[in-house]
Amino acid sequence: MKTTDTPRTGAALGWTAGLTVTAAAATLGYASVVERTLFQLREETLQILPPGAKPLRVLHLSDIHMTPHQNSKAEWLKGLARLNPDFVVNTGDNLSHQKAVGPLLDALAPLLKFPGVFVPGSNDYYAPMLKNPFSYFTKSAASTAKPPRDLPWAELFSAFGAAGWIDLTNRSQSVGFKGLRVDFTGVDDPHLSRDKYAPYPNGSSTSAEAPHLRIAVAHAPYQRVLDYFTEGGAELILAGHTHGGQVCIPGYGALVSNCDLPTWRARGLTPWELGARQVPLNVSAGIGTSRFAPVRFACKPEAVLLTLTPRSRS
Ligand SMILES: [Fe+2]
Repeated sequence: MKTTDTPRTGAALGWTAGLTVTAAAATLGYASVVERTLFQLREETLQILPPGAKPLRVLHLSDIHMTPHQNSKAEWLKGLARLNPDFVVNTGDNLSHQKAVGPLLDALAPLLKFPGVFVPGSNDYYAPMLKNPFSYFTKSAASTAKPPRDLPWAELFSAFGAAGWIDLTNRSQSVGFKGLRVDFTGVDDPHLSRDKYAPYPNGSSTSAEAPHLRIAVAHAPYQRVLDYFTEGGAELILAGHTHGGQVCIPGYGALVSNCDLPTWRARGLTPWELGARQVPLNVSAGIGTSRFAPVRFACKPEAVLLTLTPRSRS
């Protein structure tokens, strides 16, 4: 028997389509206006210091993606100084605009008074470009992009250095904190294949002068990088780049990591394993977004405060 839509069925379909469009618009509005400014502090505690050591507070910043006139982000960044960290680790992608160095340095001014280390991300070197947003979900996105425009990374890194922050671009360095020797190693952005591992500084043969903690820092947490950090003796690895997936499924998590890291590791503290070694890996969901993809959903922007405490004597 032939059937035809009744006027009532047509109206129901119209209502359904209207509700779907309204829900999509509301979700997009929430993701672009509300959630991307819901800045959060994630706090983690790790027992990785020698027994008897004083705790260290490490503030991990990543993917700020600053542009001019981002006042709420700037004020939130300034307020992080209240945490009184022992040192700051900045894992790159500070800029998203060629005129953002001034606003970024103003926002970070209170934190630049603390010791710090940093590595670059691609969005310190190159400005983002408008492109098909779905290209983010394909591996060929980076390789098919047009040549990007330069960002004033040298000006930014000079200012960081003038404030005392240590540039860990393909280099290592020892620093003393509260009587502890902390050895850092860092690499240029692995997403651009610029990473070149720098072994940790040589330790002394006397236990009193040997490294007490080895930290490794990179922007993009590609697996090859995590492996050579782990093989080199890192006891803590800090990275960013993933934006935590940026647009996530509630109850499921990230759909992409923008590198070869499994998506379940795209945000948070997880153990990275290589052979018998297991190293805590903290991946920051980041603080900003690309200028051309200014949305976050089920993935709030974050800074991370890691409190490092002594291992038990047992
Ligand atoms: Fe980023």
